[in-house]
Amino acid sequence: MNNTAVEINNLTKRFGNFTAVDGISLTVNRGEIFGFLGANGAGKTTAIRMLCGLLLPSAGSGRVAGLDIIRQFEAIKKNIGYMSQKYALYGDLTGLQNLNFYGSAYGLDKSYIAGRIEELSERLSLGDFLNRPSSSLPTGWCQRLALSVALLHRPQILFLDEPTGGVDPVFRRKFWNILYTLADEGVTIFVTTHYMDEAEYCGRISIMHRGKIVDRGKPFELIARHNADNLESMFIDLIKRQELTDEPA
Ligand SMILES: Nc1ncnc2c1ncn2[C@@H]1O[C@H](COP(=O)(O)OP(=O)(O)O)[C@@H](O)[C@H]1O
Ligand SMILES: [Mg+2]
Repeated sequence: MNNTAVEINNLTKRFGNFTAVDGISLTVNRGEIFGFLGANGAGKTTAIRMLCGLLLPSAGSGRVAGLDIIRQFEAIKKNIGYMSQKYALYGDLTGLQNLNFYGSAYGLDKSYIAGRIEELSERLSLGDFLNRPSSSLPTGWCQRLALSVALLHRPQILFLDEPTGGVDPVFRRKFWNILYTLADEGVTIFVTTHYMDEAEYCGRISIMHRGKIVDRGKPFELIARHNADNLESMFIDLIKRQELTDEPA
């Protein structure tokens, strides 16, 4: 993989005659924390699913980890970690059982899985939570477990779709510290969010509205360019202006 982790051109997804993602283009470098900011329905999940090889685009092209998102989507799944907006954990299985299950599904061998579980358990302080059914875990711990599942096979690119929804600020901060450490080690992180504090933690962000990227840049550059006091007021003003110029739906 060269220095580019993700590159997409004019990526589009239509569902019937509705365009959920409308010709977006972007590049994400290795080791970067890249944020996708947008309100509900903006098209973030649809875009991320195309990047993870889970949904075929209607138009446009792209490469993830050097692989073509249309022709090599199966290979992409093995090369990335994906944490979906709704965790795919099995509620009646314990954390440990979930990790073992997903490890086998990735095709990893037993001793590799055991070693990774030990490392991740320590790193994410999973401890006793590994032995409880995941349905009984508080949201913050579920989310950490889902992150460890996504990291099992040591992916170089991690896609996180609103990973901290419904989690308290202290836990969210801790989660972000884990992401920073991963990025320092060279892991590329592509994260969607509608939390402004999280967007500020990203190296660069793209703001999505009705399927399109309406602005992008480093958080402080965006704030300055829009003469705003902070990211939240910048975002609200930008979306308001966008709604005024948009054609009536
Ligand atoms: N499978 C689908 N069929 C039809 N419409 C869809 C489908 N998936 C998503 N959409 C629509 O596409 C738009 C973008 O959805 P989504 O990508 O989930 O946005 P976000 O993640 O930013 O909230 C929404 O209007 C949603 O209803
Ligand atoms: Mg979503």
